[in-house]
Amino acid sequence: MKYNNKQLTIENINFKNLAQKYGTPAYCYSYSKLKENINNFKQNFKSFSPLICFSVKSNTNLNIIKEIKKFGLGADVVSKGELMLALKAGVSPSKIVFSGVGKTNEEINFAIEKKILLINAESKSEIQEINKIAKQKRKIVQVGIRLNPNTDAKTLKQISTGKSENKFGVNSKTFYELVNYCKNSKNISLQCLSVHIGSQILDHKPYEKMLKAVSNIINKTNHKFKFVDLGGGMGISYSNKIKKLNYKKYNLAIKNFLKKHDTKIIFEPGRSIIGNTGTLISKIIYIKDGGAKKFIILDAAMNDLMRPALYGAVHKILPVDKSNSVSRNAYEFVGPICESTDKFVTLKKFQKLKEKDLVAICDVGAYGMSLSSNYNLRPKAVELLIKGRKIKIIKNRQKHTDLI
Ligand code: LLP
Repeated sequence: MKYNNKQLTIENINFKNLAQKYGTPAYCYSYSKLKENINNFKQNFKSFSPLICFSVKSNTNLNIIKEIKKFGLGADVVSKGELMLALKAGVSPSKIVFSGVGKTNEEINFAIEKKILLINAESKSEIQEINKIAKQKRKIVQVGIRLNPNTDAKTLKQISTGKSENKFGVNSKTFYELVNYCKNSKNISLQCLSVHIGSQILDHKPYEKMLKAVSNIINKTNHKFKFVDLGGGMGISYSNKIKKLNYKKYNLAIKNFLKKHDTKIIFEPGRSIIGNTGTLISKIIYIKDGGAKKFIILDAAMNDLMRPALYGAVHKILPVDKSNSVSRNAYEFVGPICESTDKFVTLKKFQKLKEKDLVAICDVGAYGMSLSSNYNLRPKAVELLIKGRKIKIIKNRQKHTDLI
């Protein structure tokens, strides 16, 4: 994204033109950014060529998954719906891993039928359920066991998953027990140790700790794991002030780990692949005087982008038409939903805005549309993929008649 003659553009197309043609709010994704992110990700870990399974929960647009698949990526799914979507996008079952603490009998059945690479189990009950279904089907099912390494990811508490108080994975004691259970089962082939300590991680040290814990466990189990699935979690810069994750150090830690363990690494990145490719364009409906501040009431709301309301996440907001004016009041960017948490950000300094102006909410490619809802019976926004000079509608704007 850049300004051309004070107009904000995406791949050299003016957001203003997109808004005029397709309406607002609109999710716009940049294909070139997506390509750059995937290539960078591969480059960062090229010495051990991992299997990269895109975490579908971060963005569930079929066309986006299709584009990502073309770069050879697999998929990390957490429900039957996501698995169906990945298969529809043409992702090979041999590159699909299935995580999640509550896979139902129906979901496990479906995953076995589709012969996916791994079902990463997260409890004793789940392993027993997989075993039961595999036996009924007279099949041997490839599974992983998710370890909870009790490692602090040093990220927001709501998106931490690797501490013992979190519901994810099993502790080391249960892990050993489950390894033995799998060894005694004729229908389960234990192939993988999986782990995922959290999301939006910007410090490489938790990853180093996690690798140490994984290494210790593997040494003690005396089992040959064909795969070690390290999950995702790599953070991105939502603001210029945020320090970037040191991929070199993470890569080095994995390389050292691989000196001791002969295994194939799997990653499940979501945000780091798709996060900064997406922008939400929104129009100002009204500006309301609120005493010390002004409320900028946008036509995008928490149902379109839930992250600020849910986690207090801050997304950069840019004016689509740039000017040199500066507002004397603080601006609070809010949506029309009847909740006080329907608020994006308060900014003390911003250029002067007026009603009907457009703004761009940045870095919404991950957990933007995928977390959206129809709250207040609001139709979901249109999604556009900008690929060179081509603009493709990759999801139509919902109509009220779709909802009522
Ligand atoms: N693998 C597993 C098992 C996961 O639970 C997740 C994310 C990922 C991979 C992908 O993580 P990523 O690379 O995208 O960080 N809604 C929150 C994020 C929740 C993440 C859930 N799990 C947000 O908007 O920040």
